[in-house]
Amino acid sequence: MSPVAESLRLSPTVSYERQADIAVLWLDNPPVNGLGDTTRAGIHAGLKQALEDDSIVGVVLAGAGKVFCGGADIRQFNTPAATAWPLSANIQQCLETSPKPVVAAIHGVALGGGLELALGCHYRVVAGDARLGLPEVNIGLVPGGGGTQRLPRLVGVERTLDMIQTGAPVTGKVAAAIGLADAAVDTNGPAHDAVEVVALAVEFCRQAAARTGPHPLAAAREVNGSCVDFEARLGAVNRKARNARAQQAAILCVKAATQLPFIDGLAFERERFDALVRGTESKSLRHLFFAEREAPKFAEGAEVALRALDRVAILGAGTMGVGIAMSFANAGMPVMLVEREQAAIDRGMALIRRNYEVTASKGKLTAAQLEERLARITPTLEFDVVAAADLVVEAVFEDLAIKKEIFRRLDKVCRPSAILATNTSRLDVNVIAAATSRPGDVIGLHFFSPANVMKLLEVVRGKATSPDVIATCLAMAQRLQKIPVLVGVCEGFVGNRMLTPYWREAGFLLEEGASPQQVDRALTDFGMAMGPMAMADLAGMDINWATRKRLAPTRPAHLRYSTVADRICELGRFGQKTSAGYYRYEPGSRTPIPDPVIDALIADCARVAGIARREISGQEIVERAMLALINEGARILEEGIARRASDIDVVYVHGYGFPAWRGGPMFYAETLGLEKVLARILALREQHGAHWEPAPLLARLVAGGAGSWSEVPAVQVK
Ligand code: NAI
Repeated sequence: MSPVAESLRLSPTVSYERQADIAVLWLDNPPVNGLGDTTRAGIHAGLKQALEDDSIVGVVLAGAGKVFCGGADIRQFNTPAATAWPLSANIQQCLETSPKPVVAAIHGVALGGGLELALGCHYRVVAGDARLGLPEVNIGLVPGGGGTQRLPRLVGVERTLDMIQTGAPVTGKVAAAIGLADAAVDTNGPAHDAVEVVALAVEFCRQAAARTGPHPLAAAREVNGSCVDFEARLGAVNRKARNARAQQAAILCVKAATQLPFIDGLAFERERFDALVRGTESKSLRHLFFAEREAPKFAEGAEVALRALDRVAILGAGTMGVGIAMSFANAGMPVMLVEREQAAIDRGMALIRRNYEVTASKGKLTAAQLEERLARITPTLEFDVVAAADLVVEAVFEDLAIKKEIFRRLDKVCRPSAILATNTSRLDVNVIAAATSRPGDVIGLHFFSPANVMKLLEVVRGKATSPDVIATCLAMAQRLQKIPVLVGVCEGFVGNRMLTPYWREAGFLLEEGASPQQVDRALTDFGMAMGPMAMADLAGMDINWATRKRLAPTRPAHLRYSTVADRICELGRFGQKTSAGYYRYEPGSRTPIPDPVIDALIADCARVAGIARREISGQEIVERAMLALINEGARILEEGIARRASDIDVVYVHGYGFPAWRGGPMFYAETLGLEKVLARILALREQHGAHWEPAPLLARLVAGGAGSWSEVPAVQVK
C-alpha cells in the first residue's frame, strides 16, 4: 500500500503519516504537487497537528508521486485561490518558529515555490539526481515566497544570482556541495526515490530533534554582498531577453537581501512579485508557458499506437536537409542523408562538421560527442536506402513536379509502415500525398531555418493523414526537443500564410512614405527579433517572388498590389545571398546597409501607382503590421488551419521572432482588446480599402461580447 493510502487526509491534496515519533506530510497534488490553496492549507494544518502532538519530535515534508514540489499553482495566479489563507508566507512563519525540526525530503524536483517551501524548512535532504531551482524568471516573475532572501543566506549572493537569473536548476548532488542541501542520497531510480529520500529524511530529522537548536536560517540574518557589483549585473542583462524586467527585479531583490533587515527584504520581494504578476509581460509569458505545453496535445492520438521510429532518411543535403539531419543526430538517432550529386553531399557534410565545430568551440560539445554525432549521419547517393527508413523527410527544391516525382519513387521503395514527410514551406501536401498510393502515410514536417536551432515544427496534416502518423510525428518532435504545432493544409500553412499580409502592409508602407530601415526599426522596437525587410533579405527574396508569380493568376485584380518587392528582384537583388535586396551588404557581412538605389526605386513605384508619399510614424507601422497578422490569424483559426489561437502564438514566437513577452500575435490582440482591434481594422478598411476586410470570426466574437479567442471551441485541423 502506498504511504499516502495509510495516512490521514488533512486536505484534498495533503495527508499526514506517522512514522513513530516523526510526522510525514505528503503533498499529493498531481501532476507536480503544486502549492494551490488546498495544498497550502493541508501543510499548515499538518504542521499545527504535529506541533500540538507531544509524541511527535519532528516533521518531514515529502512529495507523493514523481516529485517533491513543482512550485506555485500558476493556474491560480490572479484568482482568489492564489490569495486564500494560508499564504506561503504563513507557512514559512510556522516553519521558522517551529521548535521541532522540519526537514524537506526532495526527490524529482523542487522548483520555484517548491524550493522556497524547502528553504523555509530547517533542513533539506535530497536525491542526488533531484533538480532544485528557482525558474520564475522564465515566466517573467521573481521568486515571491522568500527565495531571493533565503537562498543567498544559504549559498551566497553570486550563486543565488546565477540560479535566479538563469532559472536553471542544480542537481541534488550540487545542492549538497554548495550548502543548499544538508544530505544527499543516491537513489535507485525514480520508483524508489521518494521512499529512500524520506527514509533518510526521517532519520536526519530524529537526530536533529535530539540536538535541538534555533532554526538555522532564522538565525542567519546577515548576508554579505560587498564583493558583488550589482550595477554591473543590472547592466549586463540583455534588454532584448524575454524576461529582462524580471531578471532586473530579481537582482534588486537579492541586493535588498544584502541591505535590508530580513523582514523588509521579504516585503521588498513581495512588492516586486506582485507588480510583475499583474503586468502584461508575465501574463504573456505564462500564456506561452501553457500554450507550448498544450500545442503537442492531440486528442485523437490517445487512441492510437505510435509507429516505430528508429531510422530516418533525409532527402536533400541543402540548407534545410543539413539542419534536419543534425536535429535527428542530436537526438541520438541514425540518419541517412540522401543526395543526387556528390558535390552537394560534400558541401552538406562539410557544413554539418563546421556547425558542430562551432558548437564545440563554445564548449557545448566535446570532441568525442562531435565525432559521435557526425557518425550518426550517413551520406549517400543511393536513393534506395530509404527502404530501411521508418521516416523519410524530403527537403529537396521547392518544386511541385520534383516533389511529386520523389513521392512516387518513395511509394515504390519504402516499407509499408514508413512515414513519408515533406518539408515544403508552401506547396499543397494533399497534392504531394496524391502522388502516392498511401496518402494516409504522408505528412508535412515544416522545419524552420536553421533547422538544428529553431524550436518550431509545423506538423502539417493532409486530408488523408492517419492519426497514428500525426501522433508519431508530434511525439518525434518532442524527442528532437522541438515544439510541434499541428496545422492544416493551405497556402503557407500558419506561419508563412500570415507573413503574406504582414509583408503586404510593409510594401504598402514603403510606397506611402516609409523607408525599409524605418519599417524594420519600428518593428524591432516593438520587440520583433528582426524587421520584415531584413527578414525578407535573409530568407531570400527570390523565394517569395516565385510564390507571387505562382499565385499571380489567382490574385484579385481590384486589390492594391505593391510592386516594390518584384522590382527589387528584377534587379537580381535577392537579399543577403546576392549581397543586395532591400538593403545592400558588404562582402561577408550580414549587416544591412540602407541603399539610395532602393529609396529611388520605392519613390518611383509610388509615383507609378499615383501614391503621394507622406511622413509615416512608427506607431502606424506597428499597428498595420500587427493588425495584418491578427486578422489573418483569425481567419486561420476560423478555417481550422490552426486548432487554437495559442498554437498560432507558439508558431509566431518560436518561428518568426515575435516577442515572447507580448505572448504572440493572438494574445497581443487580447491585451489590446478584441473590440479595439476590430474598430481599428474597420478604420483601416475605410482608409485603405478591401484588404482590410475584418475576419468574420473577429467580428462575431466582438458582436457576442467575447474578450478572448478561447471562446472559440478548439477546432479540428482540416
Ligand atoms: P536547397 O536548394 O538549399 O537544397 C535542396 C537540396 O536538394 C540540394 O542540395 C539538391 O541537390 C537536393 N536535391 C534536389 N533534388 C534531389 C533529389 N531528387 N534527391 C536528393 N536530393 C535532391 O533548398 P532548401 O532551402 O534546403 O529547401 C528545401 C525544402 O525545404 C524546400 O521545399 C523549401 O521550400 C523548404 N524549406 C526551406 C526553408 C528555408 O528557409 N530555406 C524553410 C522551410 C522549408
